[in-house]
Amino acid sequence: MQIQTPFRTDAADTSRLELTGIGVRFGGIVALDDVSLQVPAGSVVGIMGPNGAGKTTLFNVICGFIRPGDGSMSFDGRPFAPVPQRLSARGVSRTLQGLGLFAGLTALDNVTAGASGRHRSPFAAGLLGLPFAARSNRQAVGEASALLDEFGIGSYAHALPPALPYPVAKKVALARALISDPTLILLDEPAGGLDQADIDDLRELIRALPQRADSVVSVMLVEHNVDLIMSVCDHIAVLDFGRVISQGTPDEIKADPVVAQAYLGDREAS
Ligand SMILES: Nc1ncnc2c1ncn2[C@@H]1O[C@H](COP(=O)(O)OP(=O)(O)OP(=O)(O)O)[C@@H](O)[C@H]1O
Ligand SMILES: [Mg+2]
Repeated sequence: MQIQTPFRTDAADTSRLELTGIGVRFGGIVALDDVSLQVPAGSVVGIMGPNGAGKTTLFNVICGFIRPGDGSMSFDGRPFAPVPQRLSARGVSRTLQGLGLFAGLTALDNVTAGASGRHRSPFAAGLLGLPFAARSNRQAVGEASALLDEFGIGSYAHALPPALPYPVAKKVALARALISDPTLILLDEPAGGLDQADIDDLRELIRALPQRADSVVSVMLVEHNVDLIMSVCDHIAVLDFGRVISQGTPDEIKADPVVAQAYLGDREAS
């Protein structure tokens, strides 16, 4: 199976994000080459691939940190030219490969900071007689606190990131991405550095994401942990040297010899 066209699903006309022919070069390196894929609303789409395959670059394109040399994107059916500073207002958030927490801010403040760019109606603030900023900040702190409690890490609210156990810090990073009420959330190697019990915990968290709150949330997941990606994703795209070498359901990906070969080649090379 060597599919180069975007996969189609029943939800194709409710596609949240659609990438068409995305290409990125860094000097002589082709980081992404003619990448086309769809992320249907409410789905979990996995991005697999050996080291250097272009997975993080793909996320950087979706977040507007890298402008692709080729291709186009659409979000909820409209042309999408992302600007990092306005991403959460568009309903997109991400966790970084590694942690990316602010070392000088408490866990609670890190999560609250994630709310800064989101869109909120000033009318509710007016009803309470508060300036919008004050009301909105108070609300954000309350929501951040609730998220930490939901993730079972409320007792760490006032700890600084260097003092947090690694799995707790990972959850803080996820909470920070969720507080802006994204409709698309990008997770870059969320299981990296976690042991099996924490990965099982994470699996349940990711599975619950599409049904969160009032909106239909879509998830893109970059992950090297094959068991995790196979168990939470509706669809998977496999990148190798910047190209989509396979797309399909987890079972289709598992059975695709092209995918096995890409990983085998990676191991032999290293
Ligand atoms: N800013 C950059 N400047 C130059 N080359 C880059 C840059 N970012 C990425 N690359 C190169 O682009 C290719 C894809 O890198 P990318 O980080 O997207 O891979 P990845 O799939 O996320 O790998 P990993 O699994 O190791 O995180 C690699 O060859 C990498 O060295
Ligand atoms: Mg990466």
